[in-house]
Amino acid sequence: MATERTLSIIKPDAVAKNVIGEIYSRFEKAGLRIVAARMIHLSQEQAEGFYAEHKERPFFGDLVSFMTSGPVMIQVLEGEDAVIKNRDLMGATNPAQADAGTIRADFAQSIDENAVHGSDSVESAAREVAFFFTEDQLCSRTR
Ligand code: TYD
Ligand code: MG
Repeated sequence: MATERTLSIIKPDAVAKNVIGEIYSRFEKAGLRIVAARMIHLSQEQAEGFYAEHKERPFFGDLVSFMTSGPVMIQVLEGEDAVIKNRDLMGATNPAQADAGTIRADFAQSIDENAVHGSDSVESAAREVAFFFTEDQLCSRTR
């Protein structure tokens, strides 16, 4: 049993749909705690830096424009196996392939506008949490 933290972003499409609360509810029902949160409108530099691992991919430019098209809600989730638990709640990257009842199946329209981001490993979670939050901004329940 491993208590982990993971970075979650509710993307501009889902913020525009006004479903932040519904998505938070899914985190809470799965036993994940929100230990930090902020709403921001990402700059181009922030979006490029956050998604730097994808910078050679053909969709990179569109991804950056989408992520800067409106505000996003960014949160740190904490709980047992938080990384995989959040990925399971999210569903597949392409909502057309996401299991029924997942966030992407329920709220996303397309692979390029897919409602949520979630860290894909404990290592990327550490980098992504530190990208947006300082350690003293995390109201961890494990201390
Ligand atoms: P990726 O890290 O592969 O997916 P995930 O968000 O499930 O971890 O890709 C990052 C984001 O890039 C993805 O959420 C949406 C966008 N993207 C596209 O627009 N087209 C694509 O073909 C892929 C793979 C990703
Ligand atoms: Mg990813």
